[in-house]
Amino acid sequence: MKSQHQESGATTQTDLTGKVALVTGASQGIGLAIARGLAQAGASIVLADKSQAVEEQCAALKDAGYRAQAVQADVTDPSDVERMFADVTDAFDGLDILVNNAAILLSSPARDYSRVEWQRVIETNLSACYFVAMEAVKLFDTSGGGTIINMSSIVGRNARRNLVPYITAKAGIDGLTRGLTCDLARSGVRVNAIAPGFIESDMSRVDKPGFRESIAKAVPAGRWGQPQDIANVAVFLAGPAASYIHGQTIYVDGGFSAVSP
Ligand SMILES: NC(=O)c1ccc[n+]([C@@H]2O[C@H](COP(=O)([O-])OP(=O)(O)OC[C@H]3O[C@@H](n4cnc5c(N)ncnc54)[C@H](O)[C@@H]3O)[C@@H](O)[C@H]2O)c1
Repeated sequence: MKSQHQESGATTQTDLTGKVALVTGASQGIGLAIARGLAQAGASIVLADKSQAVEEQCAALKDAGYRAQAVQADVTDPSDVERMFADVTDAFDGLDILVNNAAILLSSPARDYSRVEWQRVIETNLSACYFVAMEAVKLFDTSGGGTIINMSSIVGRNARRNLVPYITAKAGIDGLTRGLTCDLARSGVRVNAIAPGFIESDMSRVDKPGFRESIAKAVPAGRWGQPQDIANVAVFLAGPAASYIHGQTIYVDGGFSAVSP
């Protein structure tokens, strides 16, 4: 049987030439950096996001010479998800890599979440990842396998204040990653997660004096992470160099979760 590496005609361990990747939440921040990184590694990219800005980001990738397609879709809406996968098939005829990156963060003390708020976070950050993964697997089946990267967080393991549904969803992502590995590895589907630490993006912006500096001080690496730090790991995990990595959550946090505060 040919390896994933041989089938793609790839020449290096990070070469994704001939692969097709779908990245959710790709109009900004970490998702956009991952989409760009996968494109630079040679993959054709479908950028999906509920924001219309995804069209503009896709156009910029195309202008730079990459193969890219935008889909405006809400990952919590089953009809949008159906359309998203129809667009993947129309544009590139198959799928090899899914990055479940789209997420939201609502911050409140534990006593204050409404049922609707709780469900919004769990639906977006956890349930949608499962349902999108199951659609991706149908396309993987036709191409002999594929790989899924789920976006977790350091808070999936080390909780912080005022984030209970987000923390619960991210801990669920780690479980989803292991559970899918149990069920799907034998059919050629490799599933892993990345747990970012403090990465500069809209989601992590907190307008509190001294916050930025206090985080940089607490992180052993002495700085905030950049979306590119996560993209580098996603490209590695998506490629043949990671072919024996299954079911893992990889912490990319400048050492934050490795030390006591
Ligand atoms: N930034 C950090 O410090 C950090 C830390 C840990 C984990 N993460 C995780 O990394 C991922 C990316 O985070 P980011 O910082 O780039 O966030 P971000 O808010 O900058 O980007 C998230 C993107 O997801 C999209 N999105 C949200 N809900 C959606 C939906 N229902 N359907 C489709 N698209 C949707 C948004 O429009 C946005 O473009 C998330 O899973 C987040 O939980 C981020």
